[in-house]
Amino acid sequence: MNHILTSPAILFTPGNKAKHFQKAEEVGANGIILDLEDGVSQEEKNKARDNVIKYLIGLKKRALLTIIRINQITTEAGLKDVLALRNSEIHYDVLLYPKVESSEELFILNSVMQLEQRHISLVALVETGRGLSQLAGIVSACPFLKGIIFGAADYAVNVGCDISWDTLLLSRQQIVQAAAIAQIAAIDCPCFDFENDDILKNELLNIKAMGFTGKLAIHPKQIPIIKQGFRPSEEELKEAEVISKTYEKAGGKACQYQGKMIDLPIYKKSQHIIARAKNTK
Ligand code: COA
Ligand code: MG
Repeated sequence: MNHILTSPAILFTPGNKAKHFQKAEEVGANGIILDLEDGVSQEEKNKARDNVIKYLIGLKKRALLTIIRINQITTEAGLKDVLALRNSEIHYDVLLYPKVESSEELFILNSVMQLEQRHISLVALVETGRGLSQLAGIVSACPFLKGIIFGAADYAVNVGCDISWDTLLLSRQQIVQAAAIAQIAAIDCPCFDFENDDILKNELLNIKAMGFTGKLAIHPKQIPIIKQGFRPSEEELKEAEVISKTYEKAGGKACQYQGKMIDLPIYKKSQHIIARAKNTK
């Protein structure tokens, strides 16, 4: 199965828009976020939850990652989401938890929803000043957390800053740094200006250089651009393949390639490059 770490292009689709659930697959996204939170109005929360569960009943495991974003567990909608998903016989790959601020929330979710036993990964959105300030502790305390996502819009509202590259640079660096502590995925917020491809392309150049492993999309037309932005170059891929083969031939012992040492983390990185190349074709 694909892993969130090597799935760079993920499309948000609001849970109340059931007729759009196929779109992610049609445009070749690596994942779909079926959203029950802020993409859905209060009046449509129940409808969205029902739509998502109905859609997933009987749906087999597929290459595309199925991700469900629930509401916070401090809200009525969030508690209903947790109970409805826990009691459904549906398959999904990732539970996405918004506005995380403590490891306790994640422990509750993991335990109540039996995520590990059900082979569901947990990913958290970091989108408040408090969440960001607690992040290193949260990722260290929660070995079941598989990725963190930067939520720029909520973060900007929470701290009272503009949404611009400069005002959010430090936060993005903190996200990447925290993800590195736990060696999990670091995913960037969507580019909200979906009609302007140049802004998206520029953001992709910057976030890839910073160490992000993926970026969310809010519109299907952003998916091919994100895939292109995360596609390893021919040279990168070739080197990763040689490194992988060399390490496997050495039976997992430290070895070398052109005077550079190869050990387990280097091998793993090469494997990620190979998987990312496959996922961004
Ligand atoms: N997921 C699936 N399909 C989508 C989509 C999405 N996020 N955004 C647009 N589409 C579909 C449209 O329904 C339309 O399909 P059709 O041609 O079969 O009718 C097509 O793509 C073109 O859409 P377009 O007319 O350009 O946009 P729109 O006005 O229909 O939708 C938004 C614009 C912003 C409302 C829509 O993109 C959206 O809902 N995005 C996600 C919002 C969200 O999840 N927010 C929370 C996280 S930040
Ligand atoms: Mg948000």
